[in-house]
Amino acid sequence: VGERYEAETAPAVCQGTIDSNHTGYSGSGFCNGDNAVGAYAQVTVTPEAAGTATLGIRFANGATGARPANLVVNGTTVATVSFEPTGAWTTWSTKTVTVPLNADGNTVRLDPTGSAGLPNIDYVDVGSAA
Ligand code: GCU
Ligand code: CA
Repeated sequence: VGERYEAETAPAVCQGTIDSNHTGYSGSGFCNGDNAVGAYAQVTVTPEAAGTATLGIRFANGATGARPANLVVNGTTVATVSFEPTGAWTTWSTKTVTVPLNADGNTVRLDPTGSAGLPNIDYVDVGSAA
């Protein structure tokens, strides 16, 4: 059984604004990060057990270029994610990555490496430890 961590729900961090002007999001809104390198979105996740977990990152990128980001877990970059255009800000897609997690709280940060910043981020789903 997985858990969903909404980008707008404390203790999540959004270096930007929580918006709700583009339909199709889950919960009460999404993180619209500032358009800048390093303007991050972060959730704190507690898995059922330590080990490798599958993350599903839901996003929308209505711009014309990809918005790559480092995926930083507990302060360590464990992957890079290329958030390609989805065609519209109301068109949401999910990126799947596997990451190592502790059994306690883990910070999962999407740290954009381009000057356009992140795509809009809806939530992070965390699957069972594999
Ligand atoms: C538009 C859009 C935002 C998005 C932004 C961006 O302003 O409405 O939701 O975050 O573009 O380019 O990042
Ligand atoms: Ca933005």
